[in-house]
Amino acid sequence: MSFQAPKGTFDWLPPRSEWALLVRDALSAPARRAGYGYIETPAFEDTALFSRGVGESTDIVTKEMYTFESRGGQSLTLRPEGTASVVRAVIEHGLYGGALPIKLWYSGSYFRYERAQAGRYRHFSQVGAEALGAEDPALDAELIVLAADGYASLGLKNVRLLLNSLGCKECRPAYRAALQDFLRGLDLDETTRQRIEINPLRVLDDKRPEVRAQLVGAPLVTDHLCGACKAYHEEVRGLLGAAGVAYTDDPRLVRGLDYYTRTTFEFVHDGLGAQSAVGGGGRYDGLSEMIGGPPLPSVGWALGVDRTVLAMEAEGLITERAGHVDVFAIPLGEEARRRIFPLVSELRRAGLAVDMAFGGRGVKGAMKAADRSGARYALILGERDLEAGAVQVKDLTTADQTAVPLAEVVEVLKGKLS
Ligand code: HAM
Repeated sequence: MSFQAPKGTFDWLPPRSEWALLVRDALSAPARRAGYGYIETPAFEDTALFSRGVGESTDIVTKEMYTFESRGGQSLTLRPEGTASVVRAVIEHGLYGGALPIKLWYSGSYFRYERAQAGRYRHFSQVGAEALGAEDPALDAELIVLAADGYASLGLKNVRLLLNSLGCKECRPAYRAALQDFLRGLDLDETTRQRIEINPLRVLDDKRPEVRAQLVGAPLVTDHLCGACKAYHEEVRGLLGAAGVAYTDDPRLVRGLDYYTRTTFEFVHDGLGAQSAVGGGGRYDGLSEMIGGPPLPSVGWALGVDRTVLAMEAEGLITERAGHVDVFAIPLGEEARRRIFPLVSELRRAGLAVDMAFGGRGVKGAMKAADRSGARYALILGERDLEAGAVQVKDLTTADQTAVPLAEVVEVLKGKLS
């Protein structure tokens, strides 16, 4: 019997896996520099946290959650996203009693039972950042700039930012009613008709051409914003412009989660086909109260690690990086192995990246392994070298070889590699 990774999942293997680490690091670095602290929450939560937080009528909650009953009879769900968990943790630990906003970032695995295809997985990784407890357009703009800077630091050129405002509890009901009136007059199937009554904004996100064609004249949320939401949105737009972050206003931008209010945004990459969103987020002023917490106006984003690596591949930014050791040690014989082993440890402790030949292969096999390792230098220790108390240092790019006394080799290699 043989096993395969479950459908919709895949393994990150070297050397490509290095890029996943690098992307995670690059996407979180700007937030870390802006005072966001690291939070880690469990990979599963009470099912009700997500059904209430993300929204009962969303695809995520109705179709995509990995829900199971624990042995204790509790309904648990593998997290489909990170925001509800972060808000739960902030409420549970009373963090809102301290300085506001509470700025947090996270990185981890998320699970959605989606139709698997290129760029859409059932297990994927996000880097996220959330700022809780402040209503300030500068905070929305800060988060957007941090995400844009993260993508830019990876060298990505074709990430576009789409920006919208979804209004607040004052102006959204009137827009919702106007949209419902419009949608009820269209020629739509029964399921979509039901959606009009439950979650009309989601109909705007329908991808079918026959539906899209009918949506052309749909009322736009930005035409229905109240004065306060309009002013707030203008301020966010102005701050983004001042920070030199380009964006496109997209009054049809609808996100797949129900908690959003006011600012919403998505980063898209055109080299990815249908799954073009590399990241997204927005303001969620009512989420805390929806899950039993105090009023806590907040804003945040999550950026997809897997899709960002795909975007880098689409832009040719993923080069076959040479392996990641500096030095590869090759003992010729048992005595040499006993001598070279502590030397390898010493070199590593001195900060060099070092690997050695294992498994007693001959010189030829060991030299091949040295080449494959991407090392700049090979250290070759033979019987004669042992007698002379020296080791051969071979430059693998020029093939130059010199004997270096064993006692000096750490310093010599440190010098060569600095
Ligand atoms: P989201 O738009 O559902 O937002 O996910 C954010 C990003 O995660 C997407 O833009 C995409 O890059 C990646 N992603 C989502 N689903 C998949 C999948 N099945 N396969 C691969 N990548 C995927 C959220 O999750 C919100 N929690 C963002 C947020 C934070 N809003 C406020 N704060």
